[in-house]
Amino acid sequence: MVYGDDAGFRMLTEKITRDRGFRCSSYKDKCLRRRVAVRMRAKQTTSHAEYASILDHDPREYDRLIRSLTVNVTKFFRNWDTYSVIEKKVIPALWERSDEELRVWSAGCASGEEPYSLGILMHKHAKETRSTSHLDSVSILGTDIDGECLGEAQRAFYAESALGDTPASLRTEYFPEMAGLHTMLPEVRRLVTFECNDLLSYQAPTQNVHLLVCRNVIIYFEREAQDALFAEFHRLLAPGGFLVLGKVESLLGDARSLFTPVNARERVFQKA
Ligand SMILES: C[S@@+](CC[C@H](N)C(=O)[O-])C[C@H]1O[C@@H](n2cnc3c(N)ncnc32)[C@H](O)[C@@H]1O
Repeated sequence: MVYGDDAGFRMLTEKITRDRGFRCSSYKDKCLRRRVAVRMRAKQTTSHAEYASILDHDPREYDRLIRSLTVNVTKFFRNWDTYSVIEKKVIPALWERSDEELRVWSAGCASGEEPYSLGILMHKHAKETRSTSHLDSVSILGTDIDGECLGEAQRAFYAESALGDTPASLRTEYFPEMAGLHTMLPEVRRLVTFECNDLLSYQAPTQNVHLLVCRNVIIYFEREAQDALFAEFHRLLAPGGFLVLGKVESLLGDARSLFTPVNARERVFQKA
């Protein structure tokens, strides 16, 4: 049993970064070790060197490993209380800036449930305030490092389980059924586009962002990468722009002075 073998593990993560561009050194070691160990068990090996050689000969296993390293768990309206703050506080504030293009970025959007959830709330607000023409100036960008996940996001067919936290009133209006799956109302779908992007490349896919939602992504990153990303998010936000993190994520160190809390419990902040 050599799962704890540091040199072997280091050699493997360096190989993964070289071969696949997946920047292992910015991810928390503990998470990587756990996920690599699961794949090694599945391949019935306890040696990192042997597993590295399996990866060389089995591209499908390599894909499986990368997918397991990225953790793609998500659902519509995950943590409804957070979306409730977005609905009641953030969207009305954004709507007041009706003379601007409204840019929303869902960074680390997995299979699209998060950006579509934001689109649904914006569409609902536009209908309620009789301002649907304002939707023409809304663009929601969903990005992720995982291209396969983005393919699912683009197809926009979802199983019942993806609608976990969705309120009943939104289900009937926004998720037409097709062949036993839920799909997305075209009026919402057209608000959202997807693009592959590695947050750790610091090559921003957009700027002057009014609402930046990055939830349950940076929790997997080392502190240094988190600090760098908070500074980058601050730079990319428009004046007064909003940042939403995951429930288990917090602004740390210097980043605390870059944003003011709108609702600290739900991790909703505004650019200071
Ligand atoms: C747990 S999911 C979170 C999905 C959604 N934001 C939510 O909260 O439901 C984490 C997502 O982050 C993506 N991810 C991981 N590392 C990334 C990186 N370096 N750049 C962009 N996305 C990344 C993964 O591919 C995965 O889809």
